[in-house]
Amino acid sequence: MIGLFDSGVGGLSVLKAVVNNGIKDNFIYFGDTKNVPYGTKTKDEILSYTKDIMEFFIKKGADCAIMACNTSSALVYEELRRQFSDKIKIYPLIQYAAPYFKDEKQTIGVMATSATVKSFAYTKEITKLNPCCNIIEQECQKFVEIVEKRLYEDISSLNYIKEKLEYFKNAGCKKIILGCTHFPYLVPVFKKYAGSIEFIDPAELLIKSIKNELIINASGRNSFEFYVSSDPENFKQSGSMFFDIKEDVSLAEFAKV
Ligand code: DGL
Repeated sequence: MIGLFDSGVGGLSVLKAVVNNGIKDNFIYFGDTKNVPYGTKTKDEILSYTKDIMEFFIKKGADCAIMACNTSSALVYEELRRQFSDKIKIYPLIQYAAPYFKDEKQTIGVMATSATVKSFAYTKEITKLNPCCNIIEQECQKFVEIVEKRLYEDISSLNYIKEKLEYFKNAGCKKIILGCTHFPYLVPVFKKYAGSIEFIDPAELLIKSIKNELIINASGRNSFEFYVSSDPENFKQSGSMFFDIKEDVSLAEFAKV
């Protein structure tokens, strides 16, 4: 069983990528909708939320957990690995995606949450293997709200998106890493303002790395369980635009207390 978690619907973009890559297994997804957004929280807060999520996955019988959330991959992966690695294998997004940029010569943009950008996790991970790589990180925290609350059509959302893409264009970025799992949903809108900039989804890079490992342990049949920490209905409504959620969405037991 594979666990995936995020602060909300963003991680469904990772679940979709896993399923589209042909992994057939039992999936358990947790959206921490009570605590969304993670990108404005402290490291201690995120550590406390994600420890509960790991315990929940372990109790449910998951043998691995994909951190379908860049913010927690940036801030708390090491702590979670130290604490839980004897019980569950944990796959963080940024650390698996970064090696794919080891030969990159062009300026790369990273759009991410405030916390991810403040941590410079992408810059640190990429420059470990490619010290001269020019990386421009820019927080785009409001994109999370645009996706969670379905505000795509609002004029203020479009102006904000346009402004952020202008920033990357002016900085000379030819590629932009979608450094938050909520952002792949906005790519069709980004493309209207982005000229020839290429968008890269780290989830695809993570899966390239771990696909064989996942296949070896997979059950061979897809099944899905969806849990949240509040408002299952809203999750289903926002999430269904991105993933075909046929199952009921439930409140996780630990979130009820
Ligand atoms: N989707 C998450 C990420 O990849 C968290 C976004 C948020 O809740 O601020 O960083």
